[in-house]
Amino acid sequence: GREELRFDGQTVVVTGAGGGLGKAYATFFGSRGANVVVNDLGGSFKGEGNSTKAADVVVDEIKKAGGKAVANYDSVENGDRIIDTAIKSFGRIDVLINNAGILRDVSFKNMKDDDWDLIMKVHVKGAYKCARAAWPHFRKQKYGRVISTASAAGLFGGFGQTNYSAAKLSQVGFTETLAKEGYKYNILCNIIAPIAASRMTETVMPPDMLESLKPDWIVPLVAVLVHPSNTTETGSIFEAGGGHIAKLRWERAKGGLLRADDSMTPGAVLAKWKDVGDFSEPSYPDGVANFMELLEEAQKLPSNPPGQKVDFKDKVVLI
Ligand code: NAI
Repeated sequence: GREELRFDGQTVVVTGAGGGLGKAYATFFGSRGANVVVNDLGGSFKGEGNSTKAADVVVDEIKKAGGKAVANYDSVENGDRIIDTAIKSFGRIDVLINNAGILRDVSFKNMKDDDWDLIMKVHVKGAYKCARAAWPHFRKQKYGRVISTASAAGLFGGFGQTNYSAAKLSQVGFTETLAKEGYKYNILCNIIAPIAASRMTETVMPPDMLESLKPDWIVPLVAVLVHPSNTTETGSIFEAGGGHIAKLRWERAKGGLLRADDSMTPGAVLAKWKDVGDFSEPSYPDGVANFMELLEEAQKLPSNPPGQKVDFKDKVVLI
């Protein structure tokens, strides 16, 4: 038969749940039986000001629909207070969705320390503080689910977004390590890179595009990842938007192996340049490689031939 994916009795904390994607998550989990902590500082998308209204509106909406929700107005920089709200209100926490975020787009030439620091505080420190406070509960109950929010800007770079890109890719490294540390305690942690219409994107995307990027279309992926029925998917990165959902991973080229000795000159590297960038025989690493084996293999190689002149991307390079 067809059954709803339910979250009865579970407590879900959604940060930045006063609008956009966070609101879509919060109302969904509220409609599927979860106790929801609706956290939002209620500031502008640039991180200015604060208000209780953003979170309150969403809590009201969930309650009116028959769900259970409580508001929290702290900044994610004080993640311990947000998790406290979950414990005090519902006695537990099962799912943490690190979603709160702001933008401070500015060309690198004009980047100020304040633009950099505030982005780091909200995205990097915020995700850390929330997860850190939830972690002991997850370990003790041998159950936890974490979603971290990266971004295409973090994965690929984006003009005017050095601060945001750095903060967003940090979520990948952070969460992949959480996944490794959490696995034996049944704490599964995944990363999403969403694309959705929100006040954050409405200034940078055309209206017809925004129309086909509903935040609601990100929610089902997140629901699947944080549900108890997911027992294996962890440490993964998913792109999602406009109905398209795809996993991303690292790809390593064939690579050039050189003997690590005095013959390993710039010329020897350039002689191997094709192999260094040859993706015709890729591998897909998900941990620190078997480095010792590589070292041993490299030592068995004959000395690298002394290069004379090598073609380096159409230029002749002297050794
Ligand atoms: P949004 O601006 O609608 O929602 C973000 C929410 O976080 C706001 O309600 C805001 O008040 C709250 N917030 C900001 N700073 C906070 C703090 N210090 N403590 C607590 N709450 C805080 O934006 P949207 O689009 O819903 O973004 C959600 C997440 O998705 C963000 O992390 C964003 O970086 C990320 N993202 C969004 C994309 C998109 O296409 N909408 C693309 C890639 C990433």
